[in-house]
Amino acid sequence: MKLPTTHLSPGMKLAKPVYGNCGELLLNRGVVLTEQYIKALRRNNVLVVDVEGPVPYDEMEVKEELSVQLRIETMRKLYSFTKKADIPLSAFMESVEALLEEIISGKTVVDYLVDLCSSDLYTFTHSVDVCVLSLLCGIKLGYNQKNLLALGVGALLHDLGKTLIDPAILNKPGKLTQEEFELIMTHPLRGWKLVGEKNEGGLHPRSKNVILNHHERYDGSGYPRKLKGHQIDQFSAICAVADVYNAMTTDRVYRKACPPPEVYEMLLCSGNVKFEKNVVKAFLSCVKPYPVGTLVKLSNGKIACVISENPSLPFRPKVQLLPSGKILDLERELSIVIKAPLSPEERRDLLS
Ligand SMILES: [Fe+2]
Ligand SMILES: [Fe+2]
Repeated sequence: MKLPTTHLSPGMKLAKPVYGNCGELLLNRGVVLTEQYIKALRRNNVLVVDVEGPVPYDEMEVKEELSVQLRIETMRKLYSFTKKADIPLSAFMESVEALLEEIISGKTVVDYLVDLCSSDLYTFTHSVDVCVLSLLCGIKLGYNQKNLLALGVGALLHDLGKTLIDPAILNKPGKLTQEEFELIMTHPLRGWKLVGEKNEGGLHPRSKNVILNHHERYDGSGYPRKLKGHQIDQFSAICAVADVYNAMTTDRVYRKACPPPEVYEMLLCSGNVKFEKNVVKAFLSCVKPYPVGTLVKLSNGKIACVISENPSLPFRPKVQLLPSGKILDLERELSIVIKAPLSPEERRDLLS
């Protein structure tokens, strides 16, 4: 059973190993928790762990999420590939297959995992997140396994061209000059050329299209080729929506993350203007703005942990107040709203 680290007590036994930010083993399965271990877990920004049941907080059970190890391994492969290591493109097919298997087996996607990694790894964490979000949308649209794999590999590699651009420009805190902006805009074509050079025949042409077309927009305002409407293939349209959603809901050096509800609303209004309407609709139906386990700030100033999602009203889940443990169903408590998820700094403060 999964429990937030805010609700652990000495004597509980770990049912699964706990890994740190870089995939290193922090505590092994079977370890009996002590006060010191619990403090160490919080210090390492670990939010949720598996403990052996029964535990007193039945309502606190958190669903199984996608494995951190698999994400980290996929990121490592991407990193090695860009450093010209001898990694065949087919290796990414295996990663996407494993991610897809986890999604289909019912594991949930926890958006906040992106915060665990440092900003220089942004392109890689973002790539894995966009891949997972694109797969969820493809499943919603009824894609078969073959198409899902091609979509997932394209989405995983969509920003590959960015690894050829100076990180100082990509992570520049201030406003970009026209020249710098134009340089960043070369990344779709550069990524497309890069996989073309390395392609040993393993990459589906539709996966390659995603790399070239993920910044095209339905109204023709995108780049590099200003494609319009159905000139943009659906794989690229899916990746474009997932890309914008993930980029906007994540903190960057040059701007703070937008609250997921705002991004949700923005996408909802952009159907058939910036993005294909059907794709936006499918995407929004699988996005979970507040996955189980998310720590949030409420409009009454209290901090709470999301304990169950609400598919019909995704912004009104059931939450448990911290530290009192009182459960609130926001579908009924209409005077209270979630203001925002806790930032990584706020979570760190809370855990210490
Ligand atoms: Fe991009
Ligand atoms: Fe991207």
